[in-house]
Amino acid sequence: MDWRIGVIGTGAIGKEHIDRITNKLSGGKITALTDVNPENAKSAASLCGARIEHSDKDVINAPDVDGILVASWGSAHASSVLAAIGAGKPVFCEKPLATTAGDCKKIVDAEMNRGKKLVQVGFMRRYDRGYLQVKEILDGGKIGKPLMLHCTHRNMSVGENYTTDMAVTDTAIHEIDCLHWLINEQYVSAQVLFPRATKYCHPKLRDPQFMILTTESGITIDIEVFVNCQFGYDIECEVCCEDGVVKMPEPAFPTLRYKAARSVAMETDWKCRFADAYDVEIQDWINAAKEGKVKGPTAWDGYLAAVTADALVKAQGSGRVEPITTGPCPDFYK
Ligand SMILES: NC(=O)c1ccc[n+]([C@@H]2O[C@H](COP(=O)([O-])OP(=O)(O)OC[C@H]3O[C@@H](n4cnc5c(N)ncnc54)[C@H](O)[C@@H]3O)[C@@H](O)[C@H]2O)c1
Repeated sequence: MDWRIGVIGTGAIGKEHIDRITNKLSGGKITALTDVNPENAKSAASLCGARIEHSDKDVINAPDVDGILVASWGSAHASSVLAAIGAGKPVFCEKPLATTAGDCKKIVDAEMNRGKKLVQVGFMRRYDRGYLQVKEILDGGKIGKPLMLHCTHRNMSVGENYTTDMAVTDTAIHEIDCLHWLINEQYVSAQVLFPRATKYCHPKLRDPQFMILTTESGITIDIEVFVNCQFGYDIECEVCCEDGVVKMPEPAFPTLRYKAARSVAMETDWKCRFADAYDVEIQDWINAAKEGKVKGPTAWDGYLAAVTADALVKAQGSGRVEPITTGPCPDFYK
């Protein structure tokens, strides 16, 4: 029997997840959904035939809903996730788990008090084939211990409402989660440098930014975030180890020979770059949740990401190296 899913928030990514659950993946069915924007709810319902509920709590408490998918605005996540934990239902929450580290910690505490892992956070890069290939090589140990990571996160352009702090909270947040998973270490400090600004900057945005994270054993990670690069959606990750270097593969495009030039296209859209990762992520959530398990990024990972993001945002303002203090990972999440 299909596992019955209720969706809270049916905007851009909510509709994408509804579409993949309904038309691509197996074992899940959307039975109820809600959105504060009735037009979005209506168009989402027409994609999957689900019932429209009045509020997130109605979706969470509906008897024909086994699990919850939260894809509302970040500021609304904590209250829906806490209600799902209260109802004892598995919940997949798009990133961020919550907009403050304090709210993420409330979710961690609520889940531990409940005594069962219920929350998965939508950090889909852990399901991307390229990152998984890099991780397999690192975990295999043949190129020695990681020393440095060089990463880039470039977007074509962003709107005028994108502000300097969003380079951390909306953009680098994916690297923040993925990189500590990749190297199995926690961060201890954060720093942000501002190179010469591009002419494509907006009044409320410093772009590009150069972020530096260090880990417990001294691994240094640099992340170039350049959200008005103009030429494409460009995600790179190279790990320099004691005995070799591993670089994440580029998405495959054909080489074109044309008019005395050789060229290879590149991605321009994050939805296409990580489409496969989203599919695997949501299928994995459904499969594990059906067995009463959480296998993907946990509420603790959501909390770690929020604490690290806070330190980077603080470093943007202070210009200093800021400490990252999370405390030890509770046994519950090991
Ligand atoms: N994992 C990723 O790569 C990725 C990519 C895009 C977006 N996201 C995250 O997904 C979330 C949604 O992003 P989006 O781009 O779809 O935004 P969006 O604005 O397109 O959609 C959000 C929807 O949630 C609805 N909503 C807001 N508050 C609500 C509430 N309290 N109850 C019910 N509905 C509510 C809005 O009306 C809107 O329809 C954000 O947290 C975003 O950061 C993650």
